[in-house]
Amino acid sequence: MSSPYFALRERLLGPLRDQPLTTDQLYEAGRIICGHPESLSLYGVPAAELTARGLRVLGRTALECTKDPHPAAIAELIAEIQHPLGQRPMVVDLFCGSGNIGHHLGRRLGHPVYAAERDPLVYATTRHNLDRLDSSVALHHADYREMLTALPALPARSEGDIYVVDPPWGAAAFTPDGLDLTRTAPPLPEILDDVRRSRDHLPCLVVIKTNDRIVNSSLDNSLGGAVHLHTFTPEPMLPPGLNAEFHIYRLSERSPSSSR
Ligand SMILES: C[S@@+](CC[C@H](N)C(=O)[O-])C[C@H]1O[C@@H](n2cnc3c(N)ncnc32)[C@H](O)[C@@H]1O
Repeated sequence: MSSPYFALRERLLGPLRDQPLTTDQLYEAGRIICGHPESLSLYGVPAAELTARGLRVLGRTALECTKDPHPAAIAELIAEIQHPLGQRPMVVDLFCGSGNIGHHLGRRLGHPVYAAERDPLVYATTRHNLDRLDSSVALHHADYREMLTALPALPARSEGDIYVVDPPWGAAAFTPDGLDLTRTAPPLPEILDDVRRSRDHLPCLVVIKTNDRIVNSSLDNSLGGAVHLHTFTPEPMLPPGLNAEFHIYRLSERSPSSSR
C-alpha cells in the first residue's frame, strides 16, 4: 500500500475535508493521485486554472471525485453503445459530489442532466462551480431517493436513460478481499432496486464506479440479471485497490430479489 497516498487521504478526509484547496494543495493531490502535479483536472479545467477561475474543490471531494479525463472517456463509450433511444434520454447523477461526471456526460451527449447531492457544503460548492461554468446540470440538494421520485414522469422515460451510481464506499472499500459493493452506503443492490422501482422497471443504462480490487461476487450479486456492456479501466497510477474502474450495464426489468 502507498503511504504518501494514505497520508494525503487522511488530510483530505480530516483537516482539509471541508476546506477549498489551494493551487499548491491541488498540485500535491495531483502528484500523488494522478501521477503529476498538474494532472488533477475537473470540468475540463486543469489544476493550474481551477482557483484562478474561482472554482472550488473541497478536500473530501478532491479525494472522492472522478477526475478528468475519465468522465469524458465514459461519455464516449456511452455514445458508442447502441441503444433504442425512444424518447430523449436523460442522465441522472445520483451521488454527484463535484458533479464532474454529469457535467461531461451532459456536454458530450446533449442530454438533460439531473444530479443529487445530500451534503449541504458539497452541494453549495458544486452549485457555485456549476454556476461559474454555466453548466446545464440541474443540481438538487437532496437524497438520491427524493430526486428519483422528482424526475420527469414515466411516459417521458427512455431505455437510453443513464444513471451514474457512485455512493460513498466507507468501510466497504477496505475489506480483506477488496471493495464489497454490497456494503456501500447505501448498499449497491438497494440503490439499483430504488432506480428500477422509480421507473417502473423500464430498462436503462447504469454506470457504476468501483476501484480495481473488488469482491467480484459483490458486483455480480448486485447486478444480477443486468447485461454487462463495458468496463473501462484507466491506466493505473496507484497500487491495486486505489485506482478507479467504471462498469456500464443495461439494467434489466427485474432484479432477482425484486418482489414485484
Ligand atoms: C463518492 S462521492 C461521489 C463523487 C462524484 N462521483 C464526483 O465525481 O465528484 C459520493 C457523494 O455522494 C454524497 N451522498 C452520500 N449519500 C447520499 C445520498 N443518500 N443522496 C445523495 N448524495 C449522497 C456524498 O456527500 C458525496 O459527495
